[in-house]
Amino acid sequence: MAIRDLHRISALMIAAYAALHVTNHIVGIGGAVSHINFMEAIRPIYRQPVIEAVLLFCVMFQVGSGLFLAIRGWKQRHGLIPWVQAASGMYLAFFLVVHVSAVLLGRAVLKLDTNFYFAAAGFYETPYKFFFAPYYFFAIFALFTHLGCAAYWQVQARPTLVRALTVLIPAGCGLVISLFIVLSLAGVLHPVEIPAEYKATYELK
Ligand code: HEM
Repeated sequence: MAIRDLHRISALMIAAYAALHVTNHIVGIGGAVSHINFMEAIRPIYRQPVIEAVLLFCVMFQVGSGLFLAIRGWKQRHGLIPWVQAASGMYLAFFLVVHVSAVLLGRAVLKLDTNFYFAAAGFYETPYKFFFAPYYFFAIFALFTHLGCAAYWQVQARPTLVRALTVLIPAGCGLVISLFIVLSLAGVLHPVEIPAEYKATYELK
């Protein structure tokens, strides 16, 4: 089986988790309480040792295989969509490494409940907010765009307009959803009071 096929299979596992996870963040547009209630309801699905182990393995494999595919095809890549696909995939690789490491560190070392406040805390400390706003914004935007690019190759026989919309519709939805998620985390949509234990993560000793 080619590495590209394995990359697709692993993507299905991550996409299943991401569908739940992004829905959680969409629900969180309604505020921290909605986000936390939804997360507590879905945690029994993915916080199972076997499921977490498979998910973390898929994340590591996805990052490694994705970077391999991006670098291997560098010189043969022509046209906008292949470059958008590679760029969104490379951003996701960066994001996933940092994001999953932070969540595991937050749970195992800082002994924090990695909930809405864990994700939002950085927005309330300068200069960290200048990192977290684009970091989360481009994560959701890149995910939707990358999936749109994957779908693009499945509609090659269709008219140009259909092919263009196959990328533009998910990318546009990703942009709007991402913007609202970031505004919610940043406390622009609802007041957010970050508990002291999460704030302490960013305070210089
Ligand atoms: C605004 C964007 C995002 C925010 C604020 C966010 C926040 C979080 C939080 C708070 C957790 C901990 C979950 C828990 O404790 O139950 C988490 C875990 C995780 N997130 Fe995200 N996330 C975002 C986007 C993404 C995206 C786009 C992906 C993948 C494509 C992703 C993949 C993961 C993975 C793999 C875990 C670890 C799950 C586990 O093993 O428990 N996240 N994220």
